[in-house]
Amino acid sequence: MKKLCLLGLFVSLASHSVLADNLPAPMENKDAFISNLMKQMTLEEKIGQLRLISIGPEMPREMIRKEIAAGNIGGTFNSITRDENRPMQDAAMRSRLKIPMFFAYDVIHGHRTIFPIPLALASSWDMDAIYHSGRIAAKEAAADSIDITFAPMVDISRDPRWGRTSEGFGEDTYLVSRIAGVMVKAFQGTGANAADSIMASVKHFALYGAVEGGRDYNTVDMSPLKMHQDYLPPYRAAIDAGAGGVMVALNSINGVPATANTWLMNDLLRKEWGFKGLAVSDHGAIFELIKHGVAKDGREAAKLAIKAGIDMSMNDSLYGKELPGLLKAGEIEQSDIDNAVREVLAAKYDMGLFKDPYLRIGKAEDDPADVYADSRMHRADARDVARRSLVLLENRNQTLPLKKTAKIALVGPLAKAPIDMMGSWAAAGRPALSVTLFDGMTRALGGESKLIYARGANITGDKKVLDYLNFLNFDAPEVVDDPRPAQVLIDEAVKAAKSADVVVAAVGESRGMSHESSSRTELNIPASQRELIKALKATGKPLVLVLMNGRPLSLLEEKQQADAILETWFSGTEGGNAIADVLFGDYNPSGKLPITFPRSVGQIPTYYNHLSIGRPFTPGKPGNYTSQYFDDTTGPLYPFGYGLSYTEFSLSDMALSSTTLNKTGKLDASVTLENTGKRDGETVVQLYIQDVTGSIIRPVKELKNFRKVMLKAGEKKVIHFTITEDDLKFFNAQLKYAAEPGKFNVQIGLDSQDVKQQSFELL
Ligand code: NOJ
Repeated sequence: MKKLCLLGLFVSLASHSVLADNLPAPMENKDAFISNLMKQMTLEEKIGQLRLISIGPEMPREMIRKEIAAGNIGGTFNSITRDENRPMQDAAMRSRLKIPMFFAYDVIHGHRTIFPIPLALASSWDMDAIYHSGRIAAKEAAADSIDITFAPMVDISRDPRWGRTSEGFGEDTYLVSRIAGVMVKAFQGTGANAADSIMASVKHFALYGAVEGGRDYNTVDMSPLKMHQDYLPPYRAAIDAGAGGVMVALNSINGVPATANTWLMNDLLRKEWGFKGLAVSDHGAIFELIKHGVAKDGREAAKLAIKAGIDMSMNDSLYGKELPGLLKAGEIEQSDIDNAVREVLAAKYDMGLFKDPYLRIGKAEDDPADVYADSRMHRADARDVARRSLVLLENRNQTLPLKKTAKIALVGPLAKAPIDMMGSWAAAGRPALSVTLFDGMTRALGGESKLIYARGANITGDKKVLDYLNFLNFDAPEVVDDPRPAQVLIDEAVKAAKSADVVVAAVGESRGMSHESSSRTELNIPASQRELIKALKATGKPLVLVLMNGRPLSLLEEKQQADAILETWFSGTEGGNAIADVLFGDYNPSGKLPITFPRSVGQIPTYYNHLSIGRPFTPGKPGNYTSQYFDDTTGPLYPFGYGLSYTEFSLSDMALSSTTLNKTGKLDASVTLENTGKRDGETVVQLYIQDVTGSIIRPVKELKNFRKVMLKAGEKKVIHFTITEDDLKFFNAQLKYAAEPGKFNVQIGLDSQDVKQQSFELL
């Protein structure tokens, strides 16, 4: 009892940051502090810490606060303002041991200011811009009392049928790993304990992007080699960058759900990688162990999860209900619970919450009068990052940039689509604050007079699809449907097109089409919109497609029909302004694809860094008995790393400083990049390496470095890359990470296919 009072006193002193010198120093010594605290906790209080509860509109707040005050909840998610979270923290401060709560949220690509979706951020290949977007997201979220985010999502996605492709950074292990580290550093800033930082919990551990057939929540079956070589490095990069948390994936891996997977969670994550942070289950995942068919009931599910090292149970019912009985029956050990509790408390410690439970909640008198006040938004930053993420796929006859003096027909269901502009997982973003393409173009033109708008088509003409998409949003219809017959909409758009000099069609997916659980069997633009494009093409007017979508689309027909195609993904709060900047040439596009665009869904997978095969298809020499689909052209529609500019760039041949490399040496690979066009512009110079002969089959090439370079019109610059043995290492058949002597091809290009090549030998 005495101890307890001391701790109470300590927390209350500490919470006011008045640390007296003569107090024992548990707060300074994390392990001692936590051990001391744990000694005072009852079993119920310990289990309470393992419960992460979702706060929904339907949730009785009074009841939640009661539970918190009783020590039965460790953290909540989905409550996102200081005045919502303060009473919950007050309740925690009324609990016996005053253990602070943490407040979590899915801050994925922005908090109130929404930045481009992650796939778009990756398209910028601009690590500074990506960092900046994450830092602002963290600051905004922290200012709204959020302590921890369920991000970054670094699942490698090589199957664009998977709706969550939008949420990740693409298909490439190296690029995604780089971004993983950048995002963790951005969220956590100077440390997860800083008032303007939030803790990162990398997800979805592991391999979620490889669900069979691209169908969400499906199984994953993968060789250990492929896991280590291609899919696991991004999670590792996030952890090496200091991510305080990990969210465990919903899928199974080689027959064992991640949530019950002791190899994944204990052997790999904690023992091999040395992860010391918090492991959180995904929503309801422990219960789903029953549906996976590895637990016969809730009791067994809870046992499997706690044994596997799942510290916190998201949306918990089972930990709270089953752990006491399991312990009593000797089916789990006290140490299973204690280990998990220790991680939760350690995470709270690392978030700075023991020192000050109100670190991010602040004082009531400082609460913003309007959480959406313009002064709290970061519009200029969002616009800048969004411009950097746009990818110019086609630009015949210099259709773009548009002249501001031209008469422009703006058509398409996504021209005035504020919800879609934000993309999925738009955190606390508010549609009313997002700038649509119509708004952005109108502003750029200084008024509506030169813009002729017609909707032209609905997102989909398929009632079943529409119902599905609208089922996803609880507040308002997600997809607005114009009830007029399709032909009437098209006729109106054609009329607008005929009276204009150029047509801009905003087409693609609604945001819900690229979301959790939104897997697709086709990658086409929906038929209703394809009909519109066809009709617009028939007018003979120059046609610019502004694509909005969260995954690669198959654009075979559109590539022929359109004069220019700008891939804008879902570009966030300032999307409309950013797109207008590019359309009118106020910004020269520089984005590059972080994922391959297939010609058709039947070609999947189309990732560029596939393994070498015995009978490769040779372009220009088609023939029987080579690896191809005989009914279509082989190769992607747009390769990984591809993207145009309004200027032209050329690359000289590559110079290699030597044709041999010692194990401890360095090699310099250089090219001269020249801006041969008439505008200043940026491009991404990409370095690929192929290990020609290895003890196991190696990929045809792998991205190993890149540099985003700005050149004035006519300017030249020599771009150097250093290659060391580290760049040549891979996991061999024994899963040993090492380089093997022999021949390597080095390629430098402005995309993954059009490259300059040289070779060297590793001695
Ligand atoms: C389920 C999703 O899979 C996960 O990514 C997300 O963080 C949680 N729900 C919480 O919203």
